Amino acid sequence: MDRNRITFFDTTLRDGEQAPGCAMGVYEKLRMARQLDELGVDVMEAGFPMASEGDFNAVRLIASEISRPVIAGLARASEPDIRRAWAALEAARHPRIHIFLASSDLHLQCKLKITREQALEQAHHAVAYARSFCNDVEFSPEDATRSDINFLCNLVQVAVDAGATTINIPDTVGYSIPEEFAAIIRTVREQVQGIEKTTISVHCHNDLGLAVANTLAALHAGARQVECTVNGIGERAGNASLEEIAMVLSVRQAQLPYQTGINSQRIYPTSCLLSEIIGFTPQPNKAIVGRNAFAHEAGIHQHGVIANPLCYEIMTPESVGVSGNNLVLGKHSGRHALGKRLAELGYKTSGPELDSVYQRFMRLAESKKKIYDQDLLSLVPMAAKEKAAATHATS
Ligand code: KIV
Ligand code: ZN
Repeated sequence: MDRNRITFFDTTLRDGEQAPGCAMGVYEKLRMARQLDELGVDVMEAGFPMASEGDFNAVRLIASEISRPVIAGLARASEPDIRRAWAALEAARHPRIHIFLASSDLHLQCKLKITREQALEQAHHAVAYARSFCNDVEFSPEDATRSDINFLCNLVQVAVDAGATTINIPDTVGYSIPEEFAAIIRTVREQVQGIEKTTISVHCHNDLGLAVANTLAALHAGARQVECTVNGIGERAGNASLEEIAMVLSVRQAQLPYQTGINSQRIYPTSCLLSEIIGFTPQPNKAIVGRNAFAHEAGIHQHGVIANPLCYEIMTPESVGVSGNNLVLGKHSGRHALGKRLAELGYKTSGPELDSVYQRFMRLAESKKKIYDQDLLSLVPMAAKEKAAATHATS
């Protein structure tokens, strides 16, 4: 195993999809999964099969269609959940069962109403049971960062002893701060025997805006898998944003000498596809993928960027798949410019199909001064999107 290779575990289709307004249908999840495959994620968590029929079907479809990355399905630490997860995953080339069980007294007492001893027994049994189906089993002690550290280590120990191959430390409620989170990872590494045979993962929520900072601190402390979502969507304030982690690792390579499999030029098209599916875009000032992330309005900045983009840009728009050309699309634009921009966004249209998109574009341009990429994507007919998804699948 290369110690400097970071595994990207994307959970847009599971934790991301759990967020208000982010629900996706089975077919939409498949489109997104194909895009995540192109983006180069190592693991994609396709859903929580026990949660609903739709989740089960989506995980099963993705497991049978997407063969390069690991496909994970979430399960509580119970036999019925694990059997359901396995039934959805078994067609996958690289399946993973992801089990979670709370480790904080708050969750054990108030939510699960079990003792610490019962939790230890349940975790051991669940991981061993999952291993009887699948060689790749991840265990997550939910609410790890508000848990008694000795009990957290005991719970992780039983999961390792029962055969867990990845240990994920979630900051479930986004409560931790970077130094503290790094210390938790170090303590787990020091106290749990056999942990070196597993991959340590982190899963940070963004309630205090620290999800990415906590994730990076954990890498310094020895974590080698990062759990994240496109556009940072997820429960409440969201999860650590995939594009932010990927670009920190790319732009600050000298300070963070890790390798990833992420194809950064697919970041923006992936962000746009997600926005189109869930029906809302990230906030304009969102790092990397917000519509202002590479915009310069102040004259003094524009002057600097024209003289040398490095004056105010630490990465090029092209490096994350944002078109570098300055073509502004509006009511004076022609078919050619529109077709070119759509192709950059992943939709090759021509002939009558382009004509009809162009007509809709002109109607929109009459009523809207600035036309953004998301506006353009909303003009592409479903048929063209299905064709693009099918082309990506076979290429
Ligand atoms: O936030 C969390 O604790 C989770 C677990 C299921 C990993 O999403
Ligand atoms: Zn989560």
